[in-house]
Amino acid sequence: MTNTYILGIESSCDETSVSIVRNGYDEIATVVLSQMDTHANYGGVVPEIASRMHVESITIVIEECLKKAHMTMDEIDAIAVTYGPGLIGCLLIGTTFASTLSYIYNKPLIPVHHIAGHIYANNIGKQLKFPLIALVVSGGHTELVFMKEDYSFKIIGGTLDDAVGEAYDKVARVLNLPYPGGPLVDKLSYEGIDTYSLPLPLDDNSYNFSFSGIKSAVINTSHNLKQRGEELNKANMACSFQNRVVEILTKKTLRALKEYDVHNLIVAGGVAANSGLRDSLKEMCIKNNIELSIPEIKYCTDNATMIAAAGYYAKKIGKQADIDLKAKANDELN
Ligand code: KG4
Ligand code: ZN
Repeated sequence: MTNTYILGIESSCDETSVSIVRNGYDEIATVVLSQMDTHANYGGVVPEIASRMHVESITIVIEECLKKAHMTMDEIDAIAVTYGPGLIGCLLIGTTFASTLSYIYNKPLIPVHHIAGHIYANNIGKQLKFPLIALVVSGGHTELVFMKEDYSFKIIGGTLDDAVGEAYDKVARVLNLPYPGGPLVDKLSYEGIDTYSLPLPLDDNSYNFSFSGIKSAVINTSHNLKQRGEELNKANMACSFQNRVVEILTKKTLRALKEYDVHNLIVAGGVAANSGLRDSLKEMCIKNNIELSIPEIKYCTDNATMIAAAGYYAKKIGKQADIDLKAKANDELN
């Protein structure tokens, strides 16, 4: 078999990343430059600052990645880039850079949806088994996706309001934790006990999610306690919040697996790093004879390895973009 080397570029939020992946699963080299420390000073990602930082670092990151891989652009077969969804100014840096490289070196340009990238993080070092259900949990998405085969995505449910990572980050702010708060709420939850009676979010027969209600319940409880001059027990609140969120994610995922008669579950996105969710899904999968795949933590958050991996399969089904590839802040998974 001839090898196919895909160079992936990811710049949709606050990580500038470039990676080279062989045949869709074999990581050759990856560089991730995170801007997290800068944005932490502002309590969240500042889009204008993020775009500027991508401009400053993208050339260096590409050179560094090629150097790490001991490869030249001539040995690359195609360039895959996140075209959306994400912060438009940030996406534009990646797509413009990728289009330019594709033009100069005469390489095919492969557009990759960011969530397809997160899903294919589960293909790094191994290969997806079909049919599968993907639980996508990130700062911008919460979706259940059915996949019959490579690069075929059927969204069976999604959030009606906040994404789960977004809810974590907002609850973290109420608990006075610095940005990004998701991992800190996760950690804190293990120091507390589940004492606050928060609602189980959107506990219905659909595959949709809603996290704005539970987020408001956390805010209201905190305000009410303050008015009464009582202290909020932050660890207990983190524990109650995490328990409820993990419970509903696990419950709806199990129902989807049963209804679609699927025995492979993959988890994708930044919140796949959540310890409570990982443990709960592991337990549920053992009980129900489901094979579970969760990426290593470094592949859960934004990185270009997953984009290069997804790019390989996108290319296989004929996805290719012209030099004028448009970045899209919002776009359906396809
Ligand atoms: O996938 P990602 O890196 O970026 C998006 O595409 O959105 O996800 C980032 C999100 C943030 O909201 C962050 O707080 C959350 O993932 N996150 C976590 C954990 N690690 C990252 N949320 C809960 N528990 C964690 N351990
Ligand atoms: Zn992401």
